[in-house]
Amino acid sequence: MIAKSSIFLPQGRTALAILVMAAAAVCSADDRNPFANDPKAAKAGEYEFRINCALCHGLGAHGGGRGPDLTRAQKKHTHNDAEMFQVISNGIPGTVMPANGTNGQGVGMTDEEIWQIITYIRSVEMKAPAKPVGNAEHGKQLFYGEANCSLCHTVAGKGGRVGPELTAVGGSRTREAIIDSVRNPSRRLAWGLTEATKEFPQEYETVTVVTGDGTEIKGVALNEDNFSVQMMDASEQIYLLDKDKLRSFKKSRESMMPVYSPNLLSDKDLDDIVAYLISVGAK
Ligand code: HEC
Ligand code: HEC
Repeated sequence: MIAKSSIFLPQGRTALAILVMAAAAVCSADDRNPFANDPKAAKAGEYEFRINCALCHGLGAHGGGRGPDLTRAQKKHTHNDAEMFQVISNGIPGTVMPANGTNGQGVGMTDEEIWQIITYIRSVEMKAPAKPVGNAEHGKQLFYGEANCSLCHTVAGKGGRVGPELTAVGGSRTREAIIDSVRNPSRRLAWGLTEATKEFPQEYETVTVVTGDGTEIKGVALNEDNFSVQMMDASEQIYLLDKDKLRSFKKSRESMMPVYSPNLLSDKDLDDIVAYLISVGAK
C-alpha cells in the first residue's frame, strides 16, 4: 500500500520539485558568468555556437539571414550576462529565437555550455558601439517619400501591406541582409505571417491568375492550399479564389518588390533608409 501511494502521490511532487530546482538553478546560475574572460571556455563556446546558433546568427556571430549580429556592442534584449543567459535558455517569445533544447538539438545545452557560449560572444563582441552608418532621419523621409517603400511596407503602424511589416526587421536582420533584400529582392523571399494552423509560414511568392471572365490579377500569395489561393494585389485588394474556376494560375519566385538598383536609389540613400530601419528595430 505504501509503495503504491508513493508511486502515485509523489509523482506530482517530483515534477514540482524538479521545477523548483530548475528555477533555483537558473536563479543562482544567472548572476555571474563563472567562465568570464577564460579563453578555453571561449573556444568551447565557439564550437557550441557553430552547432546551435550559427545557422541563424552566422559564422563568427556576425549575423545571418535569420538572426541579428551578436558582435554589436549594443544589444536589444540583453544588457548583461544574466539577461543573455535567460534569452539563450528561454528564447524570445514571438520571434524565431528558440528556447534551449527546442531547436532539434535533443536535450539542449547545459548551464555550463550556455556560459561558455556567452564567454565566446563576449570575446568577439565589439567594445564600443559601431559608428552609426547613415542618417536615420533622412532615411525616414525617403522611406515614406521618394523611395516609396511605405507604399508596400508598414513601419511602426504606418504604411502599406503588400510587403512584410518592417518594424522589427532592423533588430532581427543584419545591415547587409537588409541591403541585399533591397538590391536583390528575389534572391531570398521574405517569410509571411505565421498562422497558428501552419507549421511554416508561407513565403511572399508572386501569383498571377486569370479568372473565369478573363481578368488578370497579380499579387502576393497570402495563403494557399490545394483548392484555393488567397492573394493581395498592389492596391491591397484581397482575393480568395477557387483554383478550379481559374483559367490560369502561375506562381513565381520573382518578388513583387521592384529591384532598387544604385541608379534608382544611391548607396548613400539606402544606407540612410537602413539606418532608419535599424533605429526603429533596435527599440
Ligand atoms: C532559428 C534562428 C535562431 C537560432 C537557432 C538562434 N537564434 Fe538567437 N536570435 C534569433 C533572432 C531572430 C533574434 C532576434 C529576435 C528579435 O529581436 O526579433 C535572436 C536574438 C538573440 C539574442 C539577443 C540579441 C540582442 O540584441 O539582445 C541572443 C543573445 C541570441 N539570440 C543568442 C543565440 C544563441 C547563443 C543561440 C544558440 C544557442 C541562438 N541565439 C540561436 C534567431 C535565432
Ligand atoms: C511594390 C511593393 C514594394 C515596394 C515599393 C517595396 N517593397 Fe520591399 N518587399 C515587397 C514584397 C512583396 C516583399 C516580400 C518578398 C521579398 O522578400 O522580396 C518585400 C520584402 C522586403 C524586405 C525583406 C523583409 C524580410 O523580412 O526579410 C525588405 C528589407 C524590404 N522589402 C525593404 C524595402 C525597402 C527599404 C523599400 C524602399 C526602398 C521597399 N522594400 C519597397 C514589396 C515592396
